[in-house]
Amino acid sequence: MNKLLVSLLLTLGVTGAANAAGNLVGDAAAGQGKTAVCGACHGPDGNSMAPNFPKLAGQGEKYLEKQLHDIKSGKRTVLEMTGLLTNLSDQDMADIAAYFASQKGSVGAADPKLVAQGEALFRGGNLDKGMPACTGCHSPNGAGLAAAGFPHLGGQHSQYVAKQLTDFREGNRTNDGDAMTMRSIAAKLSNKDIEAVSSYIQGLH
Ligand code: HEC
Ligand code: HEC
Repeated sequence: MNKLLVSLLLTLGVTGAANAAGNLVGDAAAGQGKTAVCGACHGPDGNSMAPNFPKLAGQGEKYLEKQLHDIKSGKRTVLEMTGLLTNLSDQDMADIAAYFASQKGSVGAADPKLVAQGEALFRGGNLDKGMPACTGCHSPNGAGLAAAGFPHLGGQHSQYVAKQLTDFREGNRTNDGDAMTMRSIAAKLSNKDIEAVSSYIQGLH
């Protein structure tokens, strides 16, 4: 990326952790020891079993760190995590992000009945509504772009993904930066679209 684009992305807040947390280097080994309480919901290695708890394993470090700052500050509401981050320092959160990023994410399966519609949306967007393809930022295999803070989606629980897209659309999740990237995209998704693309993402790898 050229310098102008980088500074533009920074101004827009798109690159996430850079403005949330400075340039702390996370230590994955130290991070593992700080995740005992997290494992109950997210799984010890970040592969959660329950479909409403997001998988953290293999997620981009920068994205994870930004979410932890946003959840701690209340910029993103996660009631289940109330109070859990209060005593964590910026370094603790960088370490935890490094730990989960270093784990291997598991993959689920898509509903065969929804694959065609989900894939078309993910790969092609919706021209009529001016909605870009998800692949542009989340990559064709759903790996995201870790350095830019674009999250890994492939293999994520469809129930969790559908809730995020609905929350962005309804304005219940608003931590996607001043550019409102995900809010403006989700505004163009119907309930059926969300069901299909979320199912597709669950099986994507
Ligand atoms: C009681 C269950 C619970 C515990 C314990 C818990 N979480 Fe969470 N966490 C959740 C839920 C539920 C969400 C998603 C909420 C939503 O739907 O937006 C979440 C979301 C997250 C996210 C955002 C993931 C993403 O893809 O955007 C991160 C990062 C996270 N948790 C890290 C942690 C860490 C680190 C700990 C331990 C310090 C922890 N959580 C403990 C339930 C829990
Ligand atoms: C222009 C880039 C861009 C495009 C295109 C895009 N996204 Fe995103 N998406 C992002 C960014 C950046 C975030 C992280 C926002 C934040 O920091 O909380 C995100 C977050 C998400 C999340 C939340 C992930 C989590 O773990 O909580 C989901 C789900 C998602 N996007 C799905 C999609 C889908 C589905 C499409 C296509 C219909 C799409 N995105 C298109 C940039 C994009």
